Amino acid sequence: MRLLIIGDLYGQIGTASAIARSRGAKVAHVADIEAAMKALRDGQGADLVMIEVREDIEKLVTLLMRERFNLPVIACGLQNDKDSAVKAIRSGAKEYIPLPPNEELIAAVLEAITEETQSLVFSSAAMAKVIAMADQIAPSDASVMITGESGTGKEVIARYIHRKSKRASGTMISVNCAAIPENLLESELFGYEKGAFTGAASRRIGKFEEADGGTILLDEISEMDLRLQSKLLRVLQEREVDRIGGSKPIKVNIRVLATSNRNMQEVVKKGTFREDLYFRLNVIPLNIPSLRERKEDILPLAEHFIEKYSKANGVPVRKLSDASITKLTQYAWQGNVRELENTMHRSVLLANGSIIEPDAIALQGMPEQAVAASGGGSVSRQISNNTGGLVGRTVESVEQELILDTLSHCLGNRTHAANILGISIRTLRNKLKQYGEHGVAIPPPPTGAE
Ligand SMILES: Nc1ncnc2c1ncn2[C@@H]1O[C@H](COP(=O)(O)OP(=O)(O)OP(=O)(O)O)[C@@H](O)[C@H]1O
Ligand SMILES: [Mg+2]
Repeated sequence: MRLLIIGDLYGQIGTASAIARSRGAKVAHVADIEAAMKALRDGQGADLVMIEVREDIEKLVTLLMRERFNLPVIACGLQNDKDSAVKAIRSGAKEYIPLPPNEELIAAVLEAITEETQSLVFSSAAMAKVIAMADQIAPSDASVMITGESGTGKEVIARYIHRKSKRASGTMISVNCAAIPENLLESELFGYEKGAFTGAASRRIGKFEEADGGTILLDEISEMDLRLQSKLLRVLQEREVDRIGGSKPIKVNIRVLATSNRNMQEVVKKGTFREDLYFRLNVIPLNIPSLRERKEDILPLAEHFIEKYSKANGVPVRKLSDASITKLTQYAWQGNVRELENTMHRSVLLANGSIIEPDAIALQGMPEQAVAASGGGSVSRQISNNTGGLVGRTVESVEQELILDTLSHCLGNRTHAANILGISIRTLRNKLKQYGEHGVAIPPPPTGAE
């Protein structure tokens, strides 16, 4: 865990650093946001940022997002300063820690952040086989190609391999090749020198260099364009990178892990992925089975997520009723572990009483038998079918349907529906009011809520 502290935390930086170090974190300190951004661009990685609440947190969060540094920000302020705490969270801070630093609290935050990237729950034989294979290959420096449907836990396995490798004390850098626009991915990976192109106002170290001594995870590698693929091939062969606008290659000592939820052989056959690169990456193939193929994992995972989100939301950890267990195990989970996680998160918020009953478990898709009867059907097929069905409809009518479906999915809980929809609760209320005025039936709020 690498912690970057911005500002002197109202004179408490010494104590806060000491606590973090005693819990195994590597701590770096910079004076202000500009210095923090410079450190990050220079390749000084961080897993977590702590910043004084009187700094411009919104600016920091915006800059981090704009430059795609995916880091949680924790605000620190004086104990009695409630307004700043609220403002910090609104500006995008993930947590607020009151000062002077409390040992337990800082430790808990560090633990939560570490745990978020570390838990690996399973009890199925299928998954045990995957983990045994991962254990066996982790210590080598060979590239690993991790495949599996979306949400099966490919990134979780990649992190596990890194933790079990000889590089565990180095960093693990993850780059999502699908999420970054094509023209930016090159500079993201290779970095650039000042003035290399319009807009390159300062030097930026690329992810390959940042991962030096550690592991780089190239997520959704099938989405990388062909030109970059040849540059990547060179990195794998020569173990060196050329910064854009740089004058000489730079040696890097990295291990490469890649993931894809596509069938790589098909992508190669289609000609959108280089075969030589595929062979280089696929030294060790690891396929993560879908959740349907390892039903024994459903319950332990569900319980794990219930505990996680109950703690995070300060509600008691409830048990699942027998009917709920049946409902969970009979469902098809086309979105795999991610869908299960989201479902359990919702259940924790929706449940009343001391046990989670089936009505608090809102499922979106079909039960397994229905999926089987309809001839399987992948998520992507469902989506494309849907899209076909949408043509000819107005944005307004589709929006109304989406909003009402989401709201009933959340059993009428406005706050939660707005969260899922990515709109403010006020916008949601206004829309519902409009629909109501046109005589549309609106799912009522859950009793006792709102
Ligand atoms: N075995 C597991 N134990 C605990 N949590 C898990 C496990 N597998 C997956 N998760 C959780 O499920 C979510 C999805 O996992 P992950 O991001 O690794 O999937 P993925 O296969 O990379 O998905 P995508 O293809 O969409 O990128 C994450 O929040 C992750 O923490
Ligand atoms: Mg992933």
